[in-house]
Amino acid sequence: MSALSELVILKLGGSVITDKGADDGVVREAELLRIAREVSEYRGKLIVVHGAGSFGHTYAKKYGLDRQFDPEGGIVTHKSVKKLSTAVVDALNRFGEGRGGEGPRAVAVHPMGCMVCKNGRIESMYLDNLRLMLENGLVPVLHGDVVMDSELGGCILSGDQIVTYLAKTLKASRLGLGSAADGVLGMDGKAVHEITPGTFEEFSHYIGASENTDVTGGMLGKVRELLELCKTSCITSHIFNAGKADYVHRFLEGEAIGTSICPDKGN
Ligand code: IPE
Repeated sequence: MSALSELVILKLGGSVITDKGADDGVVREAELLRIAREVSEYRGKLIVVHGAGSFGHTYAKKYGLDRQFDPEGGIVTHKSVKKLSTAVVDALNRFGEGRGGEGPRAVAVHPMGCMVCKNGRIESMYLDNLRLMLENGLVPVLHGDVVMDSELGGCILSGDQIVTYLAKTLKASRLGLGSAADGVLGMDGKAVHEITPGTFEEFSHYIGASENTDVTGGMLGKVRELLELCKTSCITSHIFNAGKADYVHRFLEGEAIGTSICPDKGN
């Protein structure tokens, strides 16, 4: 069995761990600590990827990085998301330290240093470090970032694209996107139980983009990434509310909560 069997990938949305409406980076400390405590109970192989929230979208928008690369804007935005990464890693390690070495040992991996895009899509990534981290009991923490792009100079890379790339490349067994909503909301305001490539059309008109500053496509962008993943790799993902107590823990323990994005039956 491969050393990466049973790998779980968890994305923490920027709107859960930061105040996404703020003009500057603001961490939602209490939420981050609660989530870090829930993650610390999980003992399997895990990669955490977090969004940029107000640490990234505000600057990306200010410098127009979604339209054209700007070196100064790229550096300012990268520096800002690294601050959030430090906050997430520190929160996770707080729980690792207090448990006699049993909790997570988190380490930051900044996409700017190990990934290259082409026209906004991931083209390559250095993965040997991630594999060794996982084999040696570390929890790599990646995040939405500014990365170099072979066509555009640089681009904004969302955590949603990172998680699907990693799930496919490292053959993850579970993928969860912890967002600020209960899942993909249907007409009645309740989370749709399941979306497949075949049923997506039904839902696509009312899956809204997120309310605050967002340069990476909101909920519709997430669903598209996850549908692509289930088409190419048959991996089922779950979009759930990480803002609700115990939901991260429940996802990590294997529960199908929120909206499942899965292959059509019979595939
Ligand atoms: C965005 O990452 C990256 C930058 C703006 C630099 P995400 O798209 O993953 O962030 P959230 O989850 O929407 O905040």
